[in-house]
Amino acid sequence: MLDDNNLEVKVYKNEFIEFEQLKIDNENKDLFEFISSLKDVNNDFINAKESLLVNFNERSKINPYKVRSLIESIIKEEENNFWPKKGYVIGRCKIVNLSGKGSTSNVYRAIHEFLGIEVAVKILSDDLKHNSPEIEAMFLQEAINTAKLNHPNLVSIFDADKGEKYTYMVMEFVNGIDLEHLINNNGVLDVNEAIMIMIKLCDALSYALDNNIIHRDIKPGNIMISKNKEVKLLDLGLSKIVNNKNESEEGNIVGTPIYMSPEQFLDSSSVDHRADLYSLGATFFHLLTGMPPFKTKSYREIITQKFVSDEFSPKLEGSNYPDKMKDIVNKLLLRDKNDRYQSYESLKYDLLLLT
Ligand SMILES: Nc1ncnc2c1ncn2[C@@H]1O[C@H](COP(=O)(O)OP(=O)(O)O)[C@@H](O)[C@H]1O
Ligand SMILES: [Mg+2]
Repeated sequence: MLDDNNLEVKVYKNEFIEFEQLKIDNENKDLFEFISSLKDVNNDFINAKESLLVNFNERSKINPYKVRSLIESIIKEEENNFWPKKGYVIGRCKIVNLSGKGSTSNVYRAIHEFLGIEVAVKILSDDLKHNSPEIEAMFLQEAINTAKLNHPNLVSIFDADKGEKYTYMVMEFVNGIDLEHLINNNGVLDVNEAIMIMIKLCDALSYALDNNIIHRDIKPGNIMISKNKEVKLLDLGLSKIVNNKNESEEGNIVGTPIYMSPEQFLDSSSVDHRADLYSLGATFFHLLTGMPPFKTKSYREIITQKFVSDEFSPKLEGSNYPDKMKDIVNKLLLRDKNDRYQSYESLKYDLLLLT
């Protein structure tokens, strides 16, 4: 609670600017008291006095009543929320906190109560669990596909289940950050670090391919780097067993458009590992430049750009990068899969020449 003798709180002007003193009047005193009484996901009080993130550029436009009702509506939504709170037990795993959000699921850091180790619990969203049986089946298939694999650069799976409330899998907890967030927070990666990550991804994908599995959704958000600098490829959610065509997938496009090869748009179920090589190229491009190779997000525009005009063939250019590196990225991003690298070994060979 706020103390009447000290009617000043610190408010961020925006996410990156330092705290600023704000004199509060009775109107927003009520708002700040209300915020101070709230608890965050870890059940800790939200300290309005210390850090209230105000999402308005001009403070004069803040209407405390509106902000309060906005927060109240968010809380109401959260109360109906399906996602587990801290302390909730799923299987034998006690939830600690949210670790990341993906397109289909939330991933929580948890403690396995019997083994006494940290684990990650990936939970399929409520909507998908109840309305998309085929996605639920793919989610469980991810667990089955990944559980067979054992590689230092692939996250390990310990368990999975389709419970009444939650469809989830339990996996190795990676204490780190995914590359999408890393780039958003810190900007582009150091060139040598990006090369090192690519080499490890080649190892992981080559190993998966030896076990007849391709990934189909390689992108920065699906790659984590731990505090000890281990690289872990995640989310074999769209992976498929090569030569075992899944009929339920017929006609569906699966993957993330901006990183996806042209052929994956046409028929995701018939792609081979060269589609992953394309996505690996798009990911490498992103790690080096801070941007994915296609700038637009509209599905239709991306499809047009990927197929129609050579003008839109993405290319890594500029004097910041060695020619050999540009050649590697640009070869991975070629439209025709026959013109790309054909194997992880040949790509790795060229990557090693860069180091
Ligand atoms: N094993 C893990 N340990 C820690 N965090 C994880 C782990 N797996 C995923 N995450 C975090 O959760 C996010 C979403 O996970 P992901 O498996 O990609 O879900 P989705 O299939 O919904 O895309 C990741 O980008 C990452 O930040
Ligand atoms: Mg993901």
